[in-house]
Amino acid sequence: MRLLAPVLFGAAMVQAKSSAPKNTVLCGQYDTHWSANQSYTFNTNEWGDDGSGAQCISVNNATTDFNATWSWSDNPTLVHSFPNIKLQSDLLPIELSNLSHLNISASWSMNPSSSSVENLDTIDAAANVVVDMFLDTDPTTANSTTLPKYEVMIWIAAYGGKKPIGFSSSIKNPPTHSLNGTIYTLYSGANNNGQFVYSWLAPSNVTTFDRDISPLLHYLWQHKLISESNYLGVVQFGTETFHASSNVTFSAQDFNISVAAGQPLVDSRAAGGALPNLVLLLLPLAFFFTFTCS
Ligand SMILES: *[C@@H]1O[C@H](CO)[C@@H](O)[C@H](O)[C@H]1NC(C)=O
Ligand SMILES: *[C@@H]1O[C@H](CO)[C@@H](O)[C@H](O)[C@H]1NC(C)=O
Ligand SMILES: *[C@@H]1O[C@H](CO)[C@@H](O)[C@H](O)[C@H]1NC(C)=O
Ligand SMILES: *[C@@H]1O[C@H](CO)[C@@H](O)[C@H](O)[C@H]1NC(C)=O
Ligand SMILES: *[C@@H]1O[C@H](CO)[C@@H](O)[C@H](O)[C@H]1NC(C)=O
Ligand SMILES: *[C@@H]1O[C@H](CO)[C@@H](O)[C@H](O)[C@H]1NC(C)=O
Ligand SMILES: *[C@@H]1O[C@H](CO)[C@@H](O)[C@H](O)[C@H]1NC(C)=O
Ligand SMILES: *[C@@H]1O[C@H](CO)[C@@H](O)[C@H](O)[C@H]1NC(C)=O
Ligand SMILES: *[C@@H]1O[C@H](CO)[C@@H](O)[C@H](O)[C@H]1NC(C)=O
Ligand SMILES: *[C@@H]1O[C@H](CO)[C@@H](O)[C@H](O)[C@H]1NC(C)=O
Repeated sequence: MRLLAPVLFGAAMVQAKSSAPKNTVLCGQYDTHWSANQSYTFNTNEWGDDGSGAQCISVNNATTDFNATWSWSDNPTLVHSFPNIKLQSDLLPIELSNLSHLNISASWSMNPSSSSVENLDTIDAAANVVVDMFLDTDPTTANSTTLPKYEVMIWIAAYGGKKPIGFSSSIKNPPTHSLNGTIYTLYSGANNNGQFVYSWLAPSNVTTFDRDISPLLHYLWQHKLISESNYLGVVQFGTETFHASSNVTFSAQDFNISVAAGQPLVDSRAAGGALPNLVLLLLPLAFFFTFTCS
């Protein structure tokens, strides 16, 4: 049933659109589609598919708009998929000390797919909306999502009580940084893949995003949490899906990234925010020793 459903869905879509096929529908676990101008790929990335649901993405061939429709009934604490749009640029991987700006814009919505479902809470929906990036001091390793030492996330929304790795409301004075008036808070910890994750969490759900996010990366080396010789290899935007008892549709529009090489424009040390506390400074060290001694 699980395998049959996406096939039927895909066939129905093709038939309905046969007069003007402007959307591409992808339902496979690791399907990829290149954007018309090759600047982006759209990815289904159902890496945590446990057989308890399904997901398809619909991509508009001419724009950067895409929809992901999904549900997963089991394992609500685990990520099932990360449908995303990914930057493809000759500038990547780029050394952090050579990243002058990384402007990202997008708008999005997340709703139950069926208009008869009241809201996301009704179907116990759990998901986030994130910019997901990967860094490593080795540029080849950096061009991967599983091999790099560091993952840096920007959480612009969360549903169903989802929080970043290392989040605790009892952390006193976690580091913060303001991007055009929105104060992001930094949490960190290791993921199940042995990577160290830094997550910047927005104070409320941000549904329209248009920022140079490079200060959130420069903050990390300017506060000696990572080395400035790390390369940024992967930049993606999408939703990590955890759970929903019936379909959810994530709809993203107007995605655009502009990346440029050169002197970093912003000195994050001078731009406000508390100094990192001792726990955050020591965690990466503890992590380093754990993994080199084992
Ligand atoms: C969109 O892409 C699909 C698959 O690559 C193709 O079949 C379809 O003709 C394309 N539509 C347009 C309008 O380019
Ligand atoms: C739910 O979404 C999946 C994946 O997009 C699709 O295959 C299925 O037909 C949808 N179910 C309903 C009831 O619309
Ligand atoms: C996404 O869903 C919206 C609302 O149903 C629709 O208007 C839009 O055409 C869809 N976009 C794609 C790329 O499927
Ligand atoms: C990075 O990997 C992607 C495939 O995931 C590939 O298309 C691209 O050419 C690679 N870039 C570099 C610089 O190796
Ligand atoms: C985002 O929206 C959901 C659903 O309304 C809500 O439960 C959640 O608390 C919001 N997140 C934040 C950080 O405000
Ligand atoms: C920054 O905030 C100001 C005031 O809210 C707004 O007018 C401006 O568009 C914002 N800049 C960006 C890049 O979003
Ligand atoms: C990137 O964003 C910065 C800060 O908002 C702005 O000054 C710059 O013009 C933007 N660059 C591009 C190419 O959009
Ligand atoms: C994307 O951003 C670049 C650089 O800021 C800009 O030149 C281009 O017009 C933008 N594209 C769209 C579709 O907004
Ligand atoms: C590619 O197309 C997208 C969507 O129209 C646009 O945002 C982006 O600026 C384009 N990039 C280039 C290099 O033309
Ligand atoms: C910065 O990146 C540009 C573009 O890839 C490259 O030409 C330049 O050599 C780099 N500069 C340094 C100092 O690495």
